[in-house]
Amino acid sequence: MAIVDAKEMLIKATEENYAVGAFNITNLIQMEAVVDTAVRMKAPLIIQTSVTPSKFLNAKVLANIYKTMAESAPIPICLHLDHCTDVEYCKTCADAGYTNIMIDASKQDFKNNIRQTREVSDYCHGIGGISVEGELGTVSGVEDQIKVAQDEAALCDPEQALEFVAKTRIDIFAPAIGTAHGVYKTKNPKLDFDRMEKIFKLINGKGVKMPLVVHGGTGLQPDVVKRLVSLGGSKFNVSTDLKHVLIDATYGYITSHREEYNPGKIDIAVREAIMAKIEYWIDLLGSAGKA
Ligand code: 13P
Repeated sequence: MAIVDAKEMLIKATEENYAVGAFNITNLIQMEAVVDTAVRMKAPLIIQTSVTPSKFLNAKVLANIYKTMAESAPIPICLHLDHCTDVEYCKTCADAGYTNIMIDASKQDFKNNIRQTREVSDYCHGIGGISVEGELGTVSGVEDQIKVAQDEAALCDPEQALEFVAKTRIDIFAPAIGTAHGVYKTKNPKLDFDRMEKIFKLINGKGVKMPLVVHGGTGLQPDVVKRLVSLGGSKFNVSTDLKHVLIDATYGYITSHREEYNPGKIDIAVREAIMAKIEYWIDLLGSAGKA
């Protein structure tokens, strides 16, 4: 029961007005800590890997570990490939056992974005049990191998969004509305809430068919997060926050135990810090108890 793709999980979240945390992990300690926290809080969960950790850890190995964890967990859990610009690697991960694939062709022109995204949709739907996420407009900042400068970022055009979701046959949609990857330079980044509302109404006004994704979760103020969820954001991506926790907890433990050579204790410190951060996000997104 616990191995699922994202679409149904996120339609339920949209209808009940909460969001599922989609947490980027880079190692197995993080992955276990994320799963254990979601299980304890009875929250549905999306585990994400960017392309680099997926290649480093090996997509097949990761998918098999995910499968083992998810099968014994009493909550629905997805494994999502995040921001992959390479159609062939999307297919590799779909074959390996990922349950969601994000093809990020958002830097391509509209026609090529549609073409590449549709190719991944058709491939994944042919396998079955896999959802596909596509992006329109570009999210600024740095996520893994993708860098988008602020002046290069383009917001999603609502009318184009309708055409994009119809032609690509994606399952979940990431419209660029001004959020950014990494650390925001200001406490109140300029987000286009009206655009988000318009896109949601155009696509889902007659009943929820296409869950919306919010990228760039790190650093958003709690009231902003809640507002984006209330406007229909049901997959909420958080990455940089978890990288910071991992590195800060590791550094903090090592510097305060300089004479100790016990890696297991570093892992415990990291695990506890990650769990506290995931608890914060699950509470904020309103997904506790929704599994
Ligand atoms: P942050 O790194 O800003 O949390 O963004 C995460 C994200 O959107 C991953 O796709």
